[in-house]
Amino acid sequence: SPCRGAISTMAGTAASSRRCCSWQQRLTVVVLVLICGPAASTRSHDRSCVKPHVPAAQMDWRAPRMRDAREAALVVRGGSNMEAIDFVFSDRATIPGFLGVDCQAELLAHVQAMGADKILLVTEDNVDQHHGGYWQPLIDSPNAPPIEKIVLPAGDEAKSWEHLHQLVRWNFDVGATKKSVVVAFGGGALLNVAHLFASITYRGMKLVSVPTTFLAMHDVVTSLKTSICFDGRKNNVGTFYAAQKILVDVGFCRTLPKAELFSGLGELAKNACLFGADHAEGFVRALSKPASGGAAEDFTMDIGTLLELTRLGIKAKMQVLAVDAYEKQFGMIFEYGHTVSHAIEKAYGDGIIPHGLGVVYGMLSCSYVAEKLGIMSSSERAQHDEVCNLLLSKWPLPSPRPSAELVYQLAMKDSKRGIAGEEPHQISDVLLTKMGDFVPTPTSNLLAFDGQLLREWLATFFPVTAELRAESSAEQSATTIPTPMTEPAPPAPQPSPLPLA
Ligand SMILES: NC(=O)c1ccc[n+]([C@@H]2O[C@H](COP(=O)([O-])OP(=O)(O)OC[C@H]3O[C@@H](n4cnc5c(N)ncnc54)[C@H](O)[C@@H]3O)[C@@H](O)[C@H]2O)c1
Repeated sequence: SPCRGAISTMAGTAASSRRCCSWQQRLTVVVLVLICGPAASTRSHDRSCVKPHVPAAQMDWRAPRMRDAREAALVVRGGSNMEAIDFVFSDRATIPGFLGVDCQAELLAHVQAMGADKILLVTEDNVDQHHGGYWQPLIDSPNAPPIEKIVLPAGDEAKSWEHLHQLVRWNFDVGATKKSVVVAFGGGALLNVAHLFASITYRGMKLVSVPTTFLAMHDVVTSLKTSICFDGRKNNVGTFYAAQKILVDVGFCRTLPKAELFSGLGELAKNACLFGADHAEGFVRALSKPASGGAAEDFTMDIGTLLELTRLGIKAKMQVLAVDAYEKQFGMIFEYGHTVSHAIEKAYGDGIIPHGLGVVYGMLSCSYVAEKLGIMSSSERAQHDEVCNLLLSKWPLPSPRPSAELVYQLAMKDSKRGIAGEEPHQISDVLLTKMGDFVPTPTSNLLAFDGQLLREWLATFFPVTAELRAESSAEQSATTIPTPMTEPAPPAPQPSPLPLA
C-alpha cells in the first residue's frame, strides 16, 4: 500500500543515515545548506524523509569553518566570580554573558557598567516577591542611575498585547530615552515579552537579560526569539533580538517550584539524547548523585550540580545557534519530543504536567516510532529510554490520565504541522537512530510518519477509549501497520540502573 511504501522509504533512509555521520558532520550539512542553498545538499525531494546528500569532499571543505563557529560559541574568559561566556549567534550577534552562583554584587556591577541614564527593570509577580530585594544595593547606590520598576503578572499571562502595550506606555511615561537600559528579570515568559518590548521601542533599546528559572538560564537566553501569544496561539507574535548582556545567577533556582526545575531538566534530558557524549554523561551523572534524591515536590538537587547543568545546557544550545541563529533549520532539532509533549500538557490542562516531563514522554514516543520504522535498534532504544526514565521515575504521571484519543487529537493539531508536508494521517517529529544521531531531513529535520504508530504508543500510557479502538481498527484495515492490540506494549517507565555513569 502507499502507506507501507512510505514507511519502507523512511526505514531505508534511516539505514543510509546510520552510515552517514555523527551529528557534528550533519551540522556541516546544515552549514552547507545555509551557504549554498538546498540545491547543494538535496537531490530528491520526498517531502518527509530524504536525507541530504553531500559529497565528502564538500563536507571536508566546509568542516573547518563549521568548527570555528562551534568553538567560538562558548569562549570562557574566567578571572572573576562569574565565568564569562560569549553567546555567539552565527553572524547575527555575539552577546557577552556571565555565569555564577550567588554573584549579586558582580551581576549588579555589570548592569551599572552599562552606563544607562535610567534602568527600566521589568519583572513579574513571583520573581518580585522572592527576589525583588536583589536590586536594592543598586537602588541605594549614589553612583547608579535611577531605576524604574514595573511588575507584570507571573508566567505566560505576561505574554500579551496588553502587557506589551503597558510596557511601551510605561517607557514613555517614566521618561526613558535611547540611553536607557531595559533589564529583563524573570523566567522565560517574562524574558520573552520584555525582550520584545526592548526590540521594538525606539527601534531597539539596550537590553540586559537576567533569567530566574533554570529553563530560562540554559534554554531561553540561548535564543534570539522574543514573543507574546495572540488570539489563543502560542508565541505567534515576536521578533529576533539580541540583548547586550546575559547575566546568569544560578542561585535564583533555590526558590523555584520543583515543577519548574523539572522543566529545565527535561530539556537537558533531550540534549542528552540529541547529542549523546558529554551531554548524556553530564545528565546521567547529575541525576545519579545521592544529593539528587526524592520525587516530585521532594526532589532535591544541589546548586553546584545545577550550575554544571546550566553550563552544559548553554553549550548544547549554542553549538547549534552558532550556525543557525534564527533556529529555522538545524535549530529545529530542539523540538525533539515536543509534538507529543505539548499534546500531553494540554490534555492534562495548564500547569499540571511540568513541561520538561512532557518533553521526556514525547521523546519516549519518538524512540518507539523510530524502532517501529527500523530507524533505531531495540538496544539503542533501551539506552535512550533509560536516560528518559532517570527523570520520569522522579515524577510519575498523575492520575486520572487523559484518554489516548484526546492526546492524539491534540498532537495532530501541533503548531509545527505542515513543515514536514504531512498527509492527513501523518504526524511529525525529530527522530533519532541512536543517542547523538538524528535523522536529517530537508523539512527542518522533522520527519513525517503514520499517526497510527503514535496511537500504539499512546495506548501503552493512556486509557484507550472505545472510540479510539473503533477508529483505530478502521484505519488498520486500510494499512499494513500492526494494530496496537497485537503489539506488546513497552514497559511503563521504572527507576532503572544507570546506563552511562
Ligand atoms: N527560545 C525561547 O525564547 C524560549 C525557549 C523556551 C521557552 N520559552 C518560553 O518560556 C516560557 C517558559 O519559561 P519558564 O519555564 O522560565 O517559565 P515561566 O517564566 O512561566 O516561570 C515559571 C514559574 O516560575 C516562577 N518563577 C520564575 N522565577 C522564579 C524563581 N527564581 N523563584 C520562584 N519562582 C519563580 C514564575 O513566576 C512562574 O510562575 C514559555 O512562555 C515559553 O514559550 C521561550
